[in-house]
Amino acid sequence: MEIAELILFLIPVYIANSIPVVLGGGAPLDMNKIFIDGKRIFGEGKTLRGFMAGVAAGTLAGGIVALLHSSVFFRTVQLQFIGAFLLSFGTMAGDAFGSFMKRRMEIKRGMPFLPDSIIFVVFSLAFVFPLAAVSLYEPLNLLFFFALTVVMHPLTNTLANRLGLKNVPW
Ligand code: CTP
Ligand code: MG
Repeated sequence: MEIAELILFLIPVYIANSIPVVLGGGAPLDMNKIFIDGKRIFGEGKTLRGFMAGVAAGTLAGGIVALLHSSVFFRTVQLQFIGAFLLSFGTMAGDAFGSFMKRRMEIKRGMPFLPDSIIFVVFSLAFVFPLAAVSLYEPLNLLFFFALTVVMHPLTNTLANRLGLKNVPW
């Protein structure tokens, strides 16, 4: 598989994952609710606005990609567009799930958690499964997605920290 195809495919995922740090804020996604273990469901780091902004920006970015280039992983441009939405939604759901796990394990908001760098990719690939070609899930493609994300995540977080968008470089 061409590397360019794989990178283009991940654009909605990476955009959705990085926009909330800029556009997030306001009411928390869990509405301040407490889980049965007495701790917050997601905590203060996940806001509704951040979630919606991530889904919207990722879908828009993937939509623009769809207009410029037909992905080999979708049969039609319409499916590619819906795929961008599912990838973005999956990314934000995975991001929230990561925080859910962190709160259960009593890891404080903003503290590093190794799976943080990969959960959102797993979720996005699972969400787009009904629409994407099976070839997307070939082991080498998955390896590329995970390897790229593991490398990119600390780089983008350090950059966001240097730019003053994030308090911590992870
Ligand atoms: N953010 C948001 N809404 C989301 C996701 C992220 O507003 N759904 C914003 C928050 O300001 C958050 C920042 O983006 O602090 C960085 O996101 P992330 O690193 O995922 O959150 P953390 O603050 O590290 O919180 P957690 O420990 O729950 O992961
Ligand atoms: Mg974090």
